[in-house]
Amino acid sequence: MSFTIAIDGPAAAGKGTIAKAVSAHFGFAHLDTGLLYRATGARALSFGALDLAAAERAARTLTEDDLERDDLRTADAGQAASVVAAMPAVRAALLDWQHAFARRAGGAVLDGRDIGTVVCPEAEAKLFVTASDEERAKRRHAELVRTRPDLSLEDVLEDLRERDRRDASRDAAPMRPADDAVVFDTTHMSIEDAVAQAIHHIEAQR
Ligand code: DC
Repeated sequence: MSFTIAIDGPAAAGKGTIAKAVSAHFGFAHLDTGLLYRATGARALSFGALDLAAAERAARTLTEDDLERDDLRTADAGQAASVVAAMPAVRAALLDWQHAFARRAGGAVLDGRDIGTVVCPEAEAKLFVTASDEERAKRRHAELVRTRPDLSLEDVLEDLRERDRRDASRDAAPMRPADDAVVFDTTHMSIEDAVAQAIHHIEAQR
């Protein structure tokens, strides 16, 4: 029997951490769908451009190995991901992959921007995880500054806002909470509380 948990929300709101903890708790497989878009953007760049032809080819020929690249977590890869994610042909090419993952026996957790609305509208449990722009920028900055000590909080905030604007305003599967999603604002929540509340909500759907 399959049980799908959809976790959506903007960058650095805590959805990845929650998705990992929830998948470990229930013993479900976890797919960070942002990685599919990051790997597609990175491959398109390596083909020479972030245009539609390169991005569509990158998405259609993506393999599991491409998801293991070391440079997928950088801000540049995030921006490239956000650009290719606005292309309907790229989203369509990545849909089968996500559907197959969601139908795995034993249950699956997918996190992204459009899992509850487009990829898995039938998901048994849906969460939309958010936090204030400033809090998200603080969290992302603390993470990135370890390897880039000169990075300013303002630059991180601007980068997040630009990406959110693109992700939420695009025509193809814009980021938004599904009507039946429970919205979690983690601005003033510890990660332990956020995880505990997420598990509590999902238990109630089982
Ligand atoms: O979650 P992330 O920062 O790794 O996502 C990278 C980009 O990919 C993000 O700007 C939006 C896009 N994305 C998307 O459009 N749909 C998803 N399901 C996941 C990510």
